[in-house]
Amino acid sequence: MAASLETNKALAALLTAGIIASGSGVISRILYHPSMPEENAYVIEVAEVETGDGEAAEAAAPLPVLLAAASPEEGEGVARKCAACHSFEQGGENKIGPALWGVVGRDIAAAEGFAYSDALLAKEGEWTLEGLNAFIQNPRGWAPGTKMAFAGIQNPEELADVLVYLNSLAEEPAPLPEPSAEEAAAAAEHFGFPVALKIESTQITHKSDVGGVALNLTGPAEVDAAFRRIKTAVATKTPRAEISGVLVQPMAAEGIEMILGIKRDPLFGPVIVCGFGGILVELLKDVAIGIPPISPERALELLKELRGWPLLAGLRGKPPADVDGLCAAIVSVSNLAMSLGEQLLALDINPLLVHENNYGVVAVDALVQIA
Ligand code: HEC
Repeated sequence: MAASLETNKALAALLTAGIIASGSGVISRILYHPSMPEENAYVIEVAEVETGDGEAAEAAAPLPVLLAAASPEEGEGVARKCAACHSFEQGGENKIGPALWGVVGRDIAAAEGFAYSDALLAKEGEWTLEGLNAFIQNPRGWAPGTKMAFAGIQNPEELADVLVYLNSLAEEPAPLPEPSAEEAAAAAEHFGFPVALKIESTQITHKSDVGGVALNLTGPAEVDAAFRRIKTAVATKTPRAEISGVLVQPMAAEGIEMILGIKRDPLFGPVIVCGFGGILVELLKDVAIGIPPISPERALELLKELRGWPLLAGLRGKPPADVDGLCAAIVSVSNLAMSLGEQLLALDINPLLVHENNYGVVAVDALVQIA
């Protein structure tokens, strides 16, 4: 029983995440209509995914992402904690601590007339946002022996707010670092939004289970954030998996929600059920039933039996849905029913998103029951 449940999960995950399992032509054809244009997918090489132990990966999002989301106004609020010892305004005085106007890009321990500790004087170079991040998070950890008697700010978002505030304290503030997922956003822009991101790894079958999938991203910022999220999540949950990249794909149109499945009829054996999904399935109970084997022509006939057929054919100037893709999916499911025979008790793909013509169909969620 445990074994069959495992199989269910595996199959469901395959269908869910849209993974093309090696050697299983049947399932891959359910997922993507073969005519889905090749150039509509774009793999971004991931140079390096942090594959440290879970603890390290559990840590905050990368700094550039935190900074991109941070607010200097919030940071100014948080910096009241520092105001007893520091001035922030232009031309401000040293207090218990050095004046902080223009600190980003300034040499470490370089405020005029301030008597720094040896700990800070020993540090080379200028203050970068990374350096400030490390110091303010844990002053004595980063610079043992520092005179700054302050426990540090542990909350990464709060700290990022302070950092962008400090960065703003200049006549010409330097731009914040670009998250490297910029590339993903550029690829997305190339297709037009919305897009989907998927981790590329032959070793990860349950891509959505490990947080390796993000759907319906509507802008560059969302793509950026999702790219980071996916990398971190995958590195945390499957630290040993080899990652070849992140796949960027257009979501095409939103898609029409359909259901597609196999049920076992006491009289006929396995039957294929196809109809409109989502709220429509409740409302219309609009489903067609066919007995396998089902040819592409028969699949089309079944679809035309549906009262909602005009929705697929393209209603009121709307582009037609990928009916060929849907027919191919029906045929694949029919073949699956034939090849698995008695083993397969039920299959329920719900929803099956049918995109605009030529953009294929995607199984968003699926449930498989195996004897
Ligand atoms: C209790 C007083 C105190 C508080 C509170 C305090 N600091 Fe400091 N800070 C210091 C002192 C003293 C130094 C000099 C440290 C040294 O020489 O080792 C310092 C140094 C610094 C430096 C290095 C500046 C340079 O010129 O190299 C930065 C940046 C800084 N503090 C930021 C902050 C921020 C941001 C906060 C609030 C979140 C804060 N500090 C809170 C006392 C304080």
